[in-house]
This record gives sequence, structure tokens and C-alpha cells, in this order.
Amino acid sequence: MAKETLTIKDNRTGKTYEVPIQDGSIRTAELRKIKVSDDDFGLLGYDPALMNTASCKSKVTYIDGDNGILRYRGYDIADLADNSNYLETAYLIVKGELPDSQRLKAWTHNIKMHTMVHENIRKFMDGFRYDAHPMGMIMGTVAAMSTFYPDAKDVEDLQSRRLQTRRLIGKLPTISAFAYRQMRGLPFVYPDNELSYTGNFLQMLFKIAGNYTPDPVIERALEVLFILHADHEQNCSANAVRAVGSSLVDPYSAVASGIGALYGPRHGGANEAVVQMLTKIGSVKNVAKAIKSFKSGEDRLMGFGHRIYKAYDPRGKIIKKLADEVFEVTGKNKLIDIALELERIALQDEYFVERRLYPNVDFYTGIIYQAIGFPTTMFPVLFAIPRTSGWLAQWSEMVRDPEQKITRPRQLYIGEDLREYAPIKGRPKPSDREDKVAEVI
Ligand code: CMC
Repeated sequence: MAKETLTIKDNRTGKTYEVPIQDGSIRTAELRKIKVSDDDFGLLGYDPALMNTASCKSKVTYIDGDNGILRYRGYDIADLADNSNYLETAYLIVKGELPDSQRLKAWTHNIKMHTMVHENIRKFMDGFRYDAHPMGMIMGTVAAMSTFYPDAKDVEDLQSRRLQTRRLIGKLPTISAFAYRQMRGLPFVYPDNELSYTGNFLQMLFKIAGNYTPDPVIERALEVLFILHADHEQNCSANAVRAVGSSLVDPYSAVASGIGALYGPRHGGANEAVVQMLTKIGSVKNVAKAIKSFKSGEDRLMGFGHRIYKAYDPRGKIIKKLADEVFEVTGKNKLIDIALELERIALQDEYFVERRLYPNVDFYTGIIYQAIGFPTTMFPVLFAIPRTSGWLAQWSEMVRDPEQKITRPRQLYIGEDLREYAPIKGRPKPSDREDKVAEVI
């Protein structure tokens, strides 16, 4: 049988090293043994953006990017989208197994018991300006929640972790709806626990006066969208939650950092950017010109491309179908025609084919959200709510993993060597330093 090792020869010294291979990886710490002298620090792995580094072992989510496969705890995403609801999927993600009916009932009850927020949180949110971005509002509010639950600091206690998990999954829709109402200048609507997770969210968002009954098609569409966004293994925000959480800070602070990571246009902010891009293109007849600008690098085709998927994003396929169901109720969003034409051309174009750029999860979500009546700034919030269960599963796995320590990468220092402090009068003239200073601004 082939030996599961890697032999490395250091041509500087002529020495060879045997490094074990496990699960298709080597421990980069093994490279430290490769030295030219005793006082040499040893080799480091250099991997900007962690493109080829596994930072943890995880049992939560499996992705096969070449074949467009996504599974939570072994269950295929399409199977869950067809048959599950968000809270059941959240249970699966957080606890590792699908619940039986008794457990699901208890879990749903426990989450609903935490939908209400402390009145001071409501007042705190009242203080945001009318034009504050809702992602900024929920990020700030989740961080502030750590001050309401000092027991959350006990991250090594299982009961505390469970309680904060229920609180966060329960409260995210409430504070997200409050952020929306704040933007609109509307009074906050309190949770109604008689409704489903998404039905309650819809009423907190859109209830104006009197009774509000969520449309069952929209309610179900949101459940599916929430299932599709619940986790995505070691993406930028999950990595942020794990890295910040590795200091053993409370989960509110860690999740707030995840929301910050998700906010950016290269991550959860992409769905917002897609609708802005489609609106700017304006008409199907402008698509060919737009494609040119994406190919020249002048613009990016937002909602296309993925670090891991080099095939059609399996979530994108489900969302594309969902759009038709939603439009039956809301009426067609005209942007869909532009999106379909962009996809049609891009999937045949050499530039996109060569680079294996396909529509990702964000390509069609924004169009659906807009049809439901969400302003674009709410789109990443609709990503953050369901992703909270994924972040918490990743966080809890990290806290319990005996191999994990505080995240602390290395660097390759390429700056100045030791320099002596020069009094201000004797310093080089600005003209000599101009280039260097310009580089860091
Ligand atoms: N439009 C045009 N060209 C692109 C695009 C795009 N959307 N995405 C990648 N490319 C090109 C890129 O210019 C590069 O070309 P070249 O080799 O000639 O330099 C090549 O494809 C590889 O791209 P990359 O930027 O090195 O790939 P990456 O893995 O670092 O980036 C990405 C992945 C998702 C950040 C990127 O594809 C992108 O910016 N897409 C648009 C934003 C987007 O839709 N983000 C949502 C991601 S999915 C949801 C989530 O997980 O948050």
C-alpha cells in the first residue's frame, strides 16, 4: 500500500523530511522542521487569503465546488429546501441531527421564547439615524447585546452556549425588522409567537395597522431562502466568527464580527450590488455592452463567480425556480429578464467559461427580495438572519475543538530593518519620502 507521507527535499541543505499526509492535507507546522541552521525559524506556509489552507476540521457543511454539491450535516441542500423549514434546518446545523417531533417542538418553542428584545435594545435602536444602513444597525445591536447578557462570557459552559444560541436565532429577526422600521420611520412591531419564524418576521416588517396575515407563498419562499443561506462552511464571515470567537469572547461579539464580514460587497453585500447593477443596465438591449465592461475588468458581473464553486451554485438553481413562484404573487420583477439574458450570454462566453464563472447564490436572491418589497439595503440582512445558525454551529465547534487555539496567523515581514529615531528637524525632506508615504495612504 502506498505510504501516506510526503517527502520533501530541501535543496539548500540537501536534507529530506518525511511529512505525514492526513485527510489529503499536511500540517503546515511540520514545515517548521525544515531549517538551514539551528537558529533558523523554519519554513512557513505563505497563503494570502487562505486560498489553500484548511483552518479547522468541521462536521457542519460539505461543499464540492467542482460538482456543485452543498450538504448540511450530510443532507443535500435541495432535499432540505424541498422538505424542511428553517428552524428544523437550524436545529440540524447546530445540533448535528434532524430532530424528532418532540425535540423540534421544544426547539421551536425555545427559540420563540427569545424573540422579544429588552426594551433598552429597542431604545438603543431608536438612536440610529433615519438613513443608517440596516446591516450597520444589526451589527451594532448584536454587539450591544453582549452587554445585556453577561452570562454569555461563559463560552466554555454548554448551558450558556445553548442559551445564547437560542437567544441569537430568536432575536435576529426582531432586531432586523426593527432596523427596517427605523429606516422607514415606522413604529416597531413586536413579535407574534403564534406565527412561524418567517411569518412572524414578515408581520414585524410589514404590519401597518390591524391584522396582518403573511402570504403563505412568500412565507414559504423565505423559509427556503433561509435554509439556503444557513451555512456555507469556512466563508469569510464564518472565518471571522471563528477567529474572533477564538479569543473566547462572548458569541454576540463574535457574531457581530461575522455580520461585519458579511456586509461587504464581495460577500453578503453582493445581492444588493446585483440589483444595483441590473438597474444600471436598465434593459435587455444593454446587456451585451455590459458584458464587455465585465470582461475588460471595468466592472464585475456581480452575483457571478465563487471561490469554491466552479460549477453552477446549487443554491442558485433552487432560487431561480423560486423566483417564478414568488412572481405569481408579487407580479414579475422586470429585472429578471436582464438577469436571464446576462446569464445566457455569460454561460456561453469564453471569458466566463474559461474562468468557470457561474451564477452564485446572490444572482437571483435580490430580484426576489425586491419583488417581495424589501429595499436593497435589507438584502444582506436577509442573509445574516439565517446565517446566524451557521455561525453559531461553527463557533461552538471551534470552542469545543481541543486542537483550536487563539487564531493568530504568521506574516512575512517585508518592511524596514531597524532604524534609529530621527528628531523631526533632521528627518529626510518630504520629497524624498513622498513615494513611500503615498503607498500606505
Ligand atoms: N465578473 C468578472 N470577472 C470575474 C468575476 C466577476 N464576477 N469573478 C471573478 N472574475 C475573474 C477575475 O477578474 C479573475 O480574472 P483573471 O484571472 O483574468 O484575473 C478570475 O475571474 C478569478 O477571480 P478572483 O477574483 O481571483 O476569484 P476569487 O475566488 O478571489 O473571487 C469572488 C471570488 C466571489 C469574490 C468573485 O468571483 C467576485 O467578486 N464575484 C462578484 C461578487 C459576488 O457575486 N460575490 C458573492 C459571492 S457568493 C455569496 C457569498 O459567499 O457571500
